[in-house]
Amino acid sequence: MEVVILPTAADCGRVVADVLAAAITGRKSGHRPTLGLATGSSPVLAYQELIRRHREDGLSFAGVRAFLLDEYVGLPADHPESYRSVIRREFTSHVDIPDRDVHGPDGTHPDPLVAAIEYEQLLRANGPVAVQLLGIGGNGHIGFNEPGSSLGSVTRVKTLTEQTRRDNARFFDRMEDVPRHVITQGLGTIGRAEHLLLTASGARKAAAVAAAVEGPLTASCPASVLQLHPHATVVIDEAAAAELERADYYRYTLEHKLPHQPY
Ligand code: GLP
Repeated sequence: MEVVILPTAADCGRVVADVLAAAITGRKSGHRPTLGLATGSSPVLAYQELIRRHREDGLSFAGVRAFLLDEYVGLPADHPESYRSVIRREFTSHVDIPDRDVHGPDGTHPDPLVAAIEYEQLLRANGPVAVQLLGIGGNGHIGFNEPGSSLGSVTRVKTLTEQTRRDNARFFDRMEDVPRHVITQGLGTIGRAEHLLLTASGARKAAAVAAAVEGPLTASCPASVLQLHPHATVVIDEAAAAELERADYYRYTLEHKLPHQPY
């Protein structure tokens, strides 16, 4: 795992944007790249940077297919907080990725259990995702894989912890409006991506980041599954790095990165 510690969240946004941009510009001609997109506040600065590059530098996403990590169960697709709406508002509607190329679990399906199976099948048929962007919850979740999630899990319905519902209540008018159920890619599903790119900023994430990067591999910290992946990059600001024991080594490694060594 490569841990990239940068001074600010804006610096992290630029590096995350660099990795995503490289995945789409470095593709073989005729190949449609697949990106795994995440919602939440963590990736927002990267999305803003990609939108800027699209507008000012001509970065094109033509042909890209985007796959979401997760979705709330029961919110109408046009609800402003459905992840389908969020990703459109924060990113895809501002670049050349049409709605038909943005895929996610169907939170409006009459049977969420079936919707989960269908999304897993869609991912298997279209994968692997080239780069999967990830945030991390304060309790170490990725996607909506709450602590206790099987490290080999596939897309399924999960029940949110009360902590996650409280964390996400800021996006809703009332706590009662935060859905209890979600459909999320499993940890095994996420692990099929070619490159996992986790980003976090702020002191609120420091304990979860330390557990994910330096703690034991355990379902109690779902993000620790990155330790099993052959290509995982963690891009964090100084505040989120505050509890890492090997922070000095990560900074040293970054300083001495070979010029042609990609993230
Ligand atoms: C949410 C999402 C995750 C996200 C995480 C952190 O509940 N399901 O995909 O990474 O929690 O969110 P944020 O980046 O807003 O802190």
